[in-house]
Amino acid sequence: MTTAQLRVGIIGAGIGKSHAEGYAKQSRVQIAAIAGLDDRVKTLASTYGARTYGDYTELLAQPDIDAVSVCVPNGLHHEVTLAALKAGKHVLVEKPLARTPAEGQEMLDAAKAAGKILMISFNHRQRSDVQYIKQQIDSGRLGRIYYAKSYWMRRAGIPGINSWFVNKNMAGGGPLIDLGVHMLDIAMYLLNEPKPLAVSAGTFAEFGPRGQKGSGGIRQTVEGTYEVEDLATAMIRLEGGAMLHLEASWATHGPNGDDFGVILYGTEGGAELKVVNYNNINTVRIFYDEKDGTQVDLTPKIIPGGGHADVIKNFVAAILDNAPAIPSADDGLRRTQVIDACYRSSIDGAEIRL
Ligand SMILES: NC(=O)c1ccc[n+]([C@@H]2O[C@H](COP(=O)([O-])OP(=O)(O)OC[C@H]3O[C@@H](n4cnc5c(N)ncnc54)[C@H](O)[C@@H]3O)[C@@H](O)[C@H]2O)c1
Repeated sequence: MTTAQLRVGIIGAGIGKSHAEGYAKQSRVQIAAIAGLDDRVKTLASTYGARTYGDYTELLAQPDIDAVSVCVPNGLHHEVTLAALKAGKHVLVEKPLARTPAEGQEMLDAAKAAGKILMISFNHRQRSDVQYIKQQIDSGRLGRIYYAKSYWMRRAGIPGINSWFVNKNMAGGGPLIDLGVHMLDIAMYLLNEPKPLAVSAGTFAEFGPRGQKGSGGIRQTVEGTYEVEDLATAMIRLEGGAMLHLEASWATHGPNGDDFGVILYGTEGGAELKVVNYNNINTVRIFYDEKDGTQVDLTPKIIPGGGHADVIKNFVAAILDNAPAIPSADDGLRRTQVIDACYRSSIDGAEIRL
């Protein structure tokens, strides 16, 4: 017999592992079951004493499961989330919310109709360094932010050429929807959710179609089809006059290894998040002028933390304690609308007004 107040299932055992680690930190939660189609399911389930299923609908049919994490390829988020809500489960879905705004809207509507929590796993926004910058902005120290640059640039990191990541139907897009969605989320969160007004974007596929995939920064040439972009760049015009530049790549001839960050330019100060090859030390700098005009750069010693564990803590608290469901599915939908506008702008070769 378990005394757990919440029994969860995890569908998908790739990033699903990070969800399991997050749930395991929650004393009120039991990981009851894991579903998926590969060997990682059994390994993960054995760590937590969970049942396993191949077909996710079997997991959803289990009456003892209250909530699920949806950690399957992007193209299945819509189908699996709708099925989970229909089965009466609360849902934490991985990013991106969906491939298109229409799919995302249906997911939000279904959650509302079912009276269940729907949250999205924007884990990077929950990082302790991002939260520190958010506090600096909210305290007013940086003044009004009028320009921001947000990027996730990889030099040689195209996921397997034949994997779902490079299949347009299953992924919805390339690095923009995969990595860029995190960086769009962080920027919009830090900027306090200004309404996006217009988007001008371009996408490129220069390495993928030549079979130049990569991992660990090493490029290899592999046979296979490649249907998405490998670099995207966008300029986003925001309500209130601020501009946001967003960049994402899986492959470039450029200075980055596997790096992400945000630079924020404010009227009274600035801030930079810079994460180089996942190094979590000294990732933040704050820039301002003293009264005498001396320029100062602060490098706060922030203890690395947050991420998936915090998203899951919030998901559990939203269900059991009626706490705010953050990051919200609404945020997920707004990000999907901007990403979709970026792809349309690239196809049309013109600015798209939102
Ligand atoms: N937040 C993050 O930092 C982060 C990191 C990686 C991936 N993701 C997201 O997580 C999702 C999964 O990505 P991944 O890297 O774990 O992919 P993956 O390919 O490594 O794993 C996908 C999992 O889904 C399972 N699966 C696939 N089709 C299924 C089906 N029909 N029924 C049941 N299970 C099925 C597979 O068996 C596998 O266990 C994607 O949406 C991705 O964008 C998020």
